[in-house]
Amino acid sequence: MTLSTPSFTAVTDLFHRVSGIRLSDAKRSLVTGRLQKLAAEAGIPDLDRYVEHVVAGRDADETRRVIDRLTTNETYFFREPQHFDLLADLARKPRHGATFRVWSAASSSGEEAFSIAMVLAEHIGPRGWEVVGTDLSTAMVDSARRALFPIDRVRDTPTALVKKYCLRGQGDYQGQVLMAKELRQNMRFDQANLTEALPDIGLFDVIFLRNVLIYFDPPSKAKIVRRVIEKLKPGALLFTGHAESLSGQDVGLRASRPAVYERN
Ligand SMILES: C[S@@+](CC[C@H](N)C(=O)[O-])C[C@H]1O[C@@H](n2cnc3c(N)ncnc32)[C@H](O)[C@@H]1O
Repeated sequence: MTLSTPSFTAVTDLFHRVSGIRLSDAKRSLVTGRLQKLAAEAGIPDLDRYVEHVVAGRDADETRRVIDRLTTNETYFFREPQHFDLLADLARKPRHGATFRVWSAASSSGEEAFSIAMVLAEHIGPRGWEVVGTDLSTAMVDSARRALFPIDRVRDTPTALVKKYCLRGQGDYQGQVLMAKELRQNMRFDQANLTEALPDIGLFDVIFLRNVLIYFDPPSKAKIVRRVIEKLKPGALLFTGHAESLSGQDVGLRASRPAVYERN
């Protein structure tokens, strides 16, 4: 099954309108592959007809499935570990009763948010902290809320943390781990689009905005950063992916170390 040029343009325009991300022609075979499965599941195996159906906008569920499928959700526990070392230092500082709040602003299936939670539980304890995870993709938000991961996903997580916070599944859950209630009770996951007005989620001590800016052009990236940093408490930090430098961007931030920013 092939995807004609007008259909490729129509579906990538739709994706751009919703997510803010422009998929170039170099992504055509990836887009085709991802749509083929959805089209077959929807019972419309002809890709051009399937795209026509989706862009007509009358089937909100199918549109959501396409947006979910076209986002890149790659993530893993303790990715870019320097940020977690710094997080541990910050968490150990006295807070005079204030809740230490962290936002994973493109949380994908939750590995980043649960890594943050393990660090905070270790250094603060069972209470006194909160992690909010948000993502554009509702499928990813649902997956993060389940808090279940294949056991090999925690392979590179420090053993002491796995023993304490990752409960080995049995029976139907063999081969999976469930993240401990001690973490989950301080966490929540919601859908949020970084290219739109953000939900009222309060202010944060640290915001992880990692490996998502890379998909945006410089003006969209600057708009997202300006919107996100409104959610920083005074003196709080923004973490970006190490491949996502904000240098040269006039967004009201100064770099305090690689991929770590403070608000001016
Ligand atoms: C590659 S993952 C990064 C996950 C995690 N932050 C990490 O560093 O491992 C990028 C995530 O950004 C999300 N995303 C893409 N566009 C978005 C948008 N406009 N608003 C919110 N999330 C978005 C995708 O759904 C995906 O889950």
